[in-house]
Amino acid sequence: MMFIRSFVFFLGILATLLLGWAALVGVPDAMISEVQPPEGLSRYTAEELFGRSIYIREGCTYCHSQQTRPEGFGSDQARFWGRPSVPADYVFDKPHLLGTMRTGPDLLNIAVRQPSADWHLVHLYNPRIVVPGSLMPPFPFLFEEKLSAGPNERVLVLPDSIAPKGKVIVAGREARALTAYLLSLDRTYPVAQGKPDTTKSR
Ligand code: HEC
Repeated sequence: MMFIRSFVFFLGILATLLLGWAALVGVPDAMISEVQPPEGLSRYTAEELFGRSIYIREGCTYCHSQQTRPEGFGSDQARFWGRPSVPADYVFDKPHLLGTMRTGPDLLNIAVRQPSADWHLVHLYNPRIVVPGSLMPPFPFLFEEKLSAGPNERVLVLPDSIAPKGKVIVAGREARALTAYLLSLDRTYPVAQGKPDTTKSR
């Protein structure tokens, strides 16, 4: 009797675990395993991938989402531009950086809203130079103060009142790569909207 009751108990646990696995892993995986890269989306370059690792390391994803929600789920398209995102937009993203918080704006189409590398570099160095009152933290350690810049170095374009006297601020390797990554964030190419498994472009 005792044995049968333990066996039924064990079966119950097994069924619960299997159901959870199917609902959270099995079914979603089957739904998106056939997703093809859209024609308009290219792979990240080595530079962009390095920038992406800095984005992860600096915790940008704790304040910025990367997902445009469809009509009826807020005014994402009006605020952040572009169309609602589809699973195919993320085929090259490992790990994905969809995010859960929007302390700052969504960044999935930031390259379209703000295509200037100079703007991004100054904004990363100190957001309040370009966005007065910004709540985003500055990342000055990605930059270097120097007496003069070398031939291939990228100098920050700063207003006179902020630029250090007799010195320049140059973007470090990580700041340049992070900017390259931000400028790769453009998911505005056309895709077929609808069910998750019909995400081939056009
Ligand atoms: C503590 C929260 C926070 C963190 C962490 C953070 N940001 Fe922000 N970010 C903001 C806020 C708030 C704004 C809006 C004000 C502004 O534009 O500066 C913003 C704005 C931006 C914008 C301009 C968006 C637009 O639509 O104009 C970019 C680009 C950006 N952040 C990139 C980054 C990157 C890259 C990192 C990581 C290195 C980062 N942010 C980390 C809060 C954050």
